[in-house]
Amino acid sequence: MNYGLTQNPLLNASECLVLGVFSDTGLSDFALSLDKDHDGLITKLSKKITEAGDSLWQADVKGTSLLVIQCGKQESFTAISLKKRISEITEALLKQKIASATICLPQVSDKSANWQLEQMVLQIDNIRYQLIEFKKKNAKPHKLEAINFFLPGSSKDTLDLAQAIAQGVEFTRHLANMPANICTPTYLGDQAELLAKQFDSLSCKVMGPDEMREMGMFTLLAVAQGSDQPPRLIDIQYKGAGDAPPIVLVGKGITFDSGGLSIKPANFMDEMKYDMCGAASVLGTLKACALLKLPINVVGILASAENLLSGSAVKCGDIVLSMSGQTVEIINTDAEGRLVLADALTYAERFNPKFVIDVATLTGAVIVALGTVSSGYMTSDEELAKLLETCAKESGDRVWRLPLDEAYQDAIDSPLADMINANFDRTAGSVTAACFLSRFTEKYRWAHLDIAGTAWISGKKRNATGRPVPLLTQLVRHVAESR
Ligand code: BES
Ligand code: MN
Ligand code: ZN
Repeated sequence: MNYGLTQNPLLNASECLVLGVFSDTGLSDFALSLDKDHDGLITKLSKKITEAGDSLWQADVKGTSLLVIQCGKQESFTAISLKKRISEITEALLKQKIASATICLPQVSDKSANWQLEQMVLQIDNIRYQLIEFKKKNAKPHKLEAINFFLPGSSKDTLDLAQAIAQGVEFTRHLANMPANICTPTYLGDQAELLAKQFDSLSCKVMGPDEMREMGMFTLLAVAQGSDQPPRLIDIQYKGAGDAPPIVLVGKGITFDSGGLSIKPANFMDEMKYDMCGAASVLGTLKACALLKLPINVVGILASAENLLSGSAVKCGDIVLSMSGQTVEIINTDAEGRLVLADALTYAERFNPKFVIDVATLTGAVIVALGTVSSGYMTSDEELAKLLETCAKESGDRVWRLPLDEAYQDAIDSPLADMINANFDRTAGSVTAACFLSRFTEKYRWAHLDIAGTAWISGKKRNATGRPVPLLTQLVRHVAESR
């Protein structure tokens, strides 16, 4: 998709000119001059619609489509209404098979023009995204190719930034939506290597079971042992700042989570192909970093395996030794994410990280707590918490903090081993999962992001969202700027 800025939104510059108008203020200067040129057409169209989102009104003016959209009262035109208007406009453009459009919307009053530009690009790109390579019949690729924005005060730099994030998001969604018979741990490793080949600033090392055994990664190996697909530990590094300590992003990459012997119910089990969204979002973020040439170092560690059941699968009650030297009693094979993350988090120690953030579709409990609006995060590092809050606000990729007190730690003590991998009752499931991880992160500053509710849209229209790539990219940019 081609995005651009225009200073002079001519009616005939594209197939469709989209014009947003307020109900309580007069037309903008440029809309007024268009109105004059076309015998009051805009005034006529905007009078037909009085409420925000009422409908779109369209007219054909000498071969160009003019689409007028009512944005309501100026003072109630917020970030949320902008999002609604953008989705109505994009749906209309796609439905009408329009290839090029110029969009002129008023500015949200308490936000900057650049903020708005970034949101518009990301939201249009979101709706435009499609995965049709598996449709042999009835594949209907969208026609929309080019959009120009008229938004005084916004800059070309912001447009480039937004497009880099959009490309990171798209890469993540594409990987995440791939079915598990294609997207195996081996495939994820190959994709990481392909990505690294595209940028001089990226390098990648992919490790298999032999290297894992050598390093003592037996909790990761335990998850993988029930599957014919070998696990992968993917170490992909972005270098933009010499020898500076890196930010380390650790992603859960379970390419399919059947639950193992603690098998999941059949309903929605297909959606467990999305259990690698954490890993995919780390790759998408690294892609955005490389595109933006950020002056910072970022290491991505993806712990990838398939959680299946077979004669060789790990059993409930098995005790395994983690790379950290601590033993884990696996009382529930469906709590596999924390097992693969444990060894990946220990592996992260070698980078002397500035801080570490792990990203994982870790618990169903976080969906109960926060739904699909906010990702849950847990940390005992107040500065990291502040950084996450700021970046979530700026990017619109929302988060909500859950506690991580000592008091919850008892729940995962084991009578036999150093810990159990899941508590016996279902209480505070997201917090106890984070408690488990915290036992492997004592050597550095760390935060945990549970994206089980936000990484994909569930149900008939299931689709990856690409979250939290916008949040993580914003975070990396912040740290790069403050250096
Ligand atoms: N991948 C799941 C979490 C999940 C479930 C994400 C549903 C999105 C939708 C994770 O591996 C899991 O199974 N967690 C268990 C943990 C429990 C056994 C302690 C859960 O949340 O039920
Ligand atoms: Mn599971
Ligand atoms: Zn899982």
